[in-house]
Amino acid sequence: MEPSSESRPESRPESRPESRPESRPESRPESRPESRPMKRSLDEDEESLSKRKASDHSSEVADHYNRLQEVGLQVRSQSRIFYMRNFNNWVKSVLIGEILDQLRRSRTSPVRVLDLGCGKGGDLLKWRRGNISHLVCTDIAEVSVDQCRSRFEEMKKKSHNNDMFTAEFITADATKEPLWPRLADSTLTFDLCSCQFVVHYSFESRTKAEMMLKNACERLRPGGYFIGTTPDAYELMRRASLSQDLSFGNEVFKVRFKSRSPPSLFGAEYHFSLEGVVDVPEFMVYFPLMTRMLEKLGMRLILKSRFSEFFEEKVKDEQHRSLLQKMSALERLRKELYKCFYVTSVTFAFQGTLSRSEWEAASEYKTFRTEPGLDKD
Ligand SMILES: C[S@@+](CC[C@H](N)C(=O)[O-])C[C@H]1O[C@@H](n2cnc3c(N)ncnc32)[C@H](O)[C@@H]1O
Repeated sequence: MEPSSESRPESRPESRPESRPESRPESRPESRPESRPMKRSLDEDEESLSKRKASDHSSEVADHYNRLQEVGLQVRSQSRIFYMRNFNNWVKSVLIGEILDQLRRSRTSPVRVLDLGCGKGGDLLKWRRGNISHLVCTDIAEVSVDQCRSRFEEMKKKSHNNDMFTAEFITADATKEPLWPRLADSTLTFDLCSCQFVVHYSFESRTKAEMMLKNACERLRPGGYFIGTTPDAYELMRRASLSQDLSFGNEVFKVRFKSRSPPSLFGAEYHFSLEGVVDVPEFMVYFPLMTRMLEKLGMRLILKSRFSEFFEEKVKDEQHRSLLQKMSALERLRKELYKCFYVTSVTFAFQGTLSRSEWEAASEYKTFRTEPGLDKD
């Protein structure tokens, strides 16, 4: 059913998202994962605990994404999370676009990108618009990689002015094997690794997370970046702590924890389902830990921002605002909804919103970005 103004008003935000208590994890420090004693952080006993706990979910994740059907715009536009998916896509576009601009400003050589956990190629257009020279797409799900390749071939056929980059496609579990031997040129280096909505699958165990981060960063050239998006562990914990039965969500998404015991650094599992798109186990990413792990790889995590914060910051830019509209990343406010609050400020030239349910799902996420990597030699 087309989401209509009649069927959706009650699910609209009652206040601007940034003023909602649930988007402010700072308000409940007792529920934060960092309240764990830090000395436990990388202890061996923690590692063996997570090993004992972890059964390997990689194939379950791969099977899930392999089974996911690609649907066209017509079907997507009828989904209850149509605007949220567009909004998430806008966040990725801005994140990727800004980094590519920076790369182009700082160097004259062609830009090479690793799309780690590329899925069905949802970011291919962003790479084309960003004028990159070479792309490596890799994912654990074979069907997704095949669809990504077909999408690329299709784009290439349609591109008349030869503005297409070259690309290669690899099916591999990035938490279990180094990707380099699988590249056409095993000495290839990258200017950017983009890991969108993926890194949380690797925090099932320390070994897996280490391999994923190594694959992300090891082949970055000096000045290269690692960027991504992932659920915010603080927010997940905060919401779970408010719930009676360790689960929370609404009609579009659900998060379910198994136990109330303090989460381990690796293997802190919860089950995540999102209307027809995701239904898999995921693992909390504790940012201070990822920061330490990245430091060991010579990278410094400098930006972590909630989607709400990211939005507030980026929407100030005229170009980003106009992209927001082009991508239908917010639902247009109709007259009958004028009493509702909306996501954007009235000082900007347009108004738009996400339903409350969509916002509750989107506001779980964070973007992250490293400082340009140093020469590792
Ligand atoms: C939510 S989708 C995101 C896809 C894409 N990055 C995007 O933003 O549209 C998560 C992707 O991570 C991939 N993935 C999960 N675990 C992985 C692993 N161990 N190695 C490589 N890819 C993995 C899944 O197959 C899936 O395609």
